[in-house]
Amino acid sequence: DKDLGADLAGVLIPEDRLQAKIRELAATVDADYDGRDLLLVGVLKGAVMVMADLARALHSPVSMDWMAVSSYGSGTKSSGVVRILKDLEADITDRHVLIVEDIIDSGLTLSWLVSNLQSRNPASLEICALLRKPEAVQTEIDVRYVGFDIPNEFVVGYGLDYDEKYRNLPFVGTLAPHVYGGRA
Ligand code: PRP
Ligand code: MN
Ligand code: MG
Repeated sequence: DKDLGADLAGVLIPEDRLQAKIRELAATVDADYDGRDLLLVGVLKGAVMVMADLARALHSPVSMDWMAVSSYGSGTKSSGVVRILKDLEADITDRHVLIVEDIIDSGLTLSWLVSNLQSRNPASLEICALLRKPEAVQTEIDVRYVGFDIPNEFVVGYGLDYDEKYRNLPFVGTLAPHVYGGRA
């Protein structure tokens, strides 16, 4: 059997802490939007898990739409080029939009996405990111909801991949350097 555990250096955020944080974020989102129609925009593919759990933890009815963008390809470093692989189906003009992301690393994906969505004239546009790395703190992206600030390690699981693998782990773990050749 192939054991995913053999590729991991350790567990950074266990499942119960992830779920507790998501319930906390959901309560804040519920309070902040207080009855307004909200559209959650999940960023495929990484945000699938946080989107599914956050949406189910909310008490307010929301709509969900998805956008697929990719900037990483199969590497561990951002290529610097953001591509739209799938656009929204919803017209977000005059709507309250909350982008749901798994992680902000360099901030490149989100800063591109924010200006792209802002140009469609939503009523409001905010970001919820489960994880944020140190580099992202230096970018001028205004992130309304952040789950965890994490160290600059290569993390996988709970939606996050390395070369399309490890997304299905129910927790966030750090990848053993031998798997990616030691280059973070
Ligand atoms: C990852 C992650 C974020 C983005 C963060 O997506 O899910 O969307 O990179 O990195 P950044 O802040 O440096 O831009 P990726 O492009 O790997 O696509 P995926 O979600 O399909 O894995
Ligand atoms: Mn992503
Ligand atoms: Mg990826």
